[in-house]
Amino acid sequence: MKSAQEILQKGKLLLKDLPNSSLEAKLLFFALTLLSEEKFYSEPDVFLSSAQENKYLRMVKKRLKGVPSAYLIGSKEFWSLSFKVRPGVLIPRPETELLVEKVIELSIGGEEIIADIGTGCGNIAISLAKELGGAEIYATDISHKALDIARTNVMLQGMSGITLIWGDLYMPLKKLGLDKRCDFIISNPPYVTKEDWGNLDREIRDYEPEKALVAGETGLEVIEKLVKEGAAFLKTSGYLVFEIGFGQEKSVQAMLGQEWEQIECYSDLAGISRVFTARKS
Ligand SMILES: C[S@@+](CC[C@H](N)C(=O)[O-])C[C@H]1O[C@@H](n2cnc3c(N)ncnc32)[C@H](O)[C@@H]1O
Repeated sequence: MKSAQEILQKGKLLLKDLPNSSLEAKLLFFALTLLSEEKFYSEPDVFLSSAQENKYLRMVKKRLKGVPSAYLIGSKEFWSLSFKVRPGVLIPRPETELLVEKVIELSIGGEEIIADIGTGCGNIAISLAKELGGAEIYATDISHKALDIARTNVMLQGMSGITLIWGDLYMPLKKLGLDKRCDFIISNPPYVTKEDWGNLDREIRDYEPEKALVAGETGLEVIEKLVKEGAAFLKTSGYLVFEIGFGQEKSVQAMLGQEWEQIECYSDLAGISRVFTARKS
């Protein structure tokens, strides 16, 4: 048996070369031991079994090899909620919260119909369901793994009003007869180019799903389809709200033709153009 403090210290030392090493060591430690930080700091004589110590150190070693913390602990925080994630399903990014923010700003409340294309672990759909009580949300994905996790998250968050459905882009909406019925179509689609994928951090390339991030040679292939075919599923004055990648603003602006008005592009906290909103004319 060793003291919890001693074991955490070991983790911090092993991870010392990572940015935010101390935070990372703590994140893994508290997720594994289920100790509250309060208890940890107020009771210095908490001891852990050697089985727990070994488990923690194995986790730390995996983290050192580049496995993202979210996959090691099985969850990631988004919009102040905890979402289950696992390999094969994209880890939600903080910049995507801007998309949630914009939909809330544009929403007039009530029983709006929202379609979330490429829902991943369900983070956007569930965050919106929490904020917009009466919304009817359809969350789609082409990945069965993603939909399985999204289903778990819907259940764990105790949400109703979210329908999860498999399929390619707008195909599920077509199947459900949602033509011209949506108030919002929202998406954080794949937008990375094949070339950029090769240059991303190993942590992403080796562990996160390529299909969730890479759109094709130009990176704009999926966004182009979303914009081109989206109007058919929106009510007049409905909104298309979607995330884009670094440097894509001008090309996306050029795609939004006469059927769109009130087109805006908003920047994230890093000053990068990140979220487009456009209203169907
Ligand atoms: C960038 S991830 C976004 C996940 C999640 N919405 C988020 O914001 O964290 C893109 C998601 O779109 C899904 N996807 C990719 N191509 C798709 C397609 N053609 N039709 C439907 N979903 C697709 C991927 O499986 C992935 O879950």
